[in-house]
Amino acid sequence: MARVSAALSEYVARGEMGDGPVVEQPAMAELAERLDLEALIGQGGLSGARLERFLADYLAASHHIQHPASMGHQVSVPHPAAILGGLVDVATNNPMAIYEMGPAAATVEFAVINWMLRKVGWQPHPWPGRGDPDSPHGAGVLTHGGSLAQLTALAAARAQACPEAWQEGVDPALAVVAPPDAHYSIARALGILGLGQRALIPAPCDELGRIAPEGLDATLKELEGQGRKIMAVTANAGCTAAGLYDDFSAIADVCEAHGVWLHVDGAHGASALLSPRYRHLLAGVERAHSLIWDAHKMMRAPGLCAAVLVRDHAWLDHAFQQKASYLFHDKEQTGFDAISRTIECTKAGIGTKFFFALAADGEQGMADYVESRYDLGREAARVIAGHPAFELACPPQANIVCFRIKGTSDAGQLRLRKALLATGKVYVTTTEFAGSRWLRLALMNPATTLADIEAMLALLLDVAKNDS
Ligand SMILES: Cc1ncc(COP(=O)(O)O)c(C=O)c1O
Repeated sequence: MARVSAALSEYVARGEMGDGPVVEQPAMAELAERLDLEALIGQGGLSGARLERFLADYLAASHHIQHPASMGHQVSVPHPAAILGGLVDVATNNPMAIYEMGPAAATVEFAVINWMLRKVGWQPHPWPGRGDPDSPHGAGVLTHGGSLAQLTALAAARAQACPEAWQEGVDPALAVVAPPDAHYSIARALGILGLGQRALIPAPCDELGRIAPEGLDATLKELEGQGRKIMAVTANAGCTAAGLYDDFSAIADVCEAHGVWLHVDGAHGASALLSPRYRHLLAGVERAHSLIWDAHKMMRAPGLCAAVLVRDHAWLDHAFQQKASYLFHDKEQTGFDAISRTIECTKAGIGTKFFFALAADGEQGMADYVESRYDLGREAARVIAGHPAFELACPPQANIVCFRIKGTSDAGQLRLRKALLATGKVYVTTTEFAGSRWLRLALMNPATTLADIEAMLALLLDVAKNDS
């Protein structure tokens, strides 16, 4: 334990200082040999000096997420306190979706969900045994990731649009309207829920992929005219490619006029709810029916930890209608079983690591972190737009910035990224956005500064000299 924690502390500290490469990618089979995986699996013996060597090799071949030049994906740099919270969760190993199997973890999750509901502007769930359980209130549950949260929210929407689907299977008339830039987990959820990809109707959008509310109204009317049953409209609070936000007030007007469920994907961008300066990006989100919000993106929780939240608890209660006599039965208890609201059966106490991140610096500390990264997105965009060699895809609204060297092709972005990564000095991603491919920064790391971004831009110009 002491050896592992010493090695990890040193690894994290070196990362924060930008010491060593961001990522190196040895060939997989070679890495398996270096780590001596087959021998260790077969014979055991991962302790003492062998453990130390293994850990050194393992860490050397890990993407150094704490490195300030790791600015590619929407992955949190875990708060040090959240790492400890994760350890508490793993060591206690309480499958807390049944209260009696993890009262502390279940209570912590209940509290963080209520905190999130309040941030959205929804009524928290009364504590069991206190308050009126029949009073109008929202609900939520933590899931292992945003994709599962998305599936849960859409299962709840399906139960409202087509309650018979659970027993009879889905009505082929069901349709879900989503912007083409929606995260792929929406399309995947429709496949899993039995609607098929034919149910996915592209929402009309502006040139930056944001839903055009007047066009949405026309699309819904057209679908209704065709006899389709509209299960949901989905909107983005921080689209994956560029972090842009839809206009939730205008979209809610349209959805309410048509009596349609509005689902907001805030996996990345719902954290702006914490910031008085950026909260306006989410104006109207409280009129949605469901929202997903990942703590393992912009709230410094290690993966996986995402929330699915609904304005009315009954919607989540109706999403699944399972029978399992060993779990679901009447009993007298003081707590709350989240199991009826979640896909997962054995569910880890993921709220604990999230709670540790929140409770380390409090809500204000988390808000400061979110604001600092959104501010950095704007500063990076200012530098990029002000440089004659670069062009920006669009002014960023969040901490995701898409850009490229002027005059470079779509294929050129892939080559340039490869060349950048080969230096080991920086990690960026690429994406298609508004019809072409861009380099993409996701500025999640609290250690990343504008100087790191300027150094990355200088390196990019340098590698571009050799690009053919
Ligand atoms: C907007 C958006 N929604 C959903 C997801 C899926 O979340 P997860 O990776 O936690 O499954 C992502 C992932 O990046 C995302 O960017």
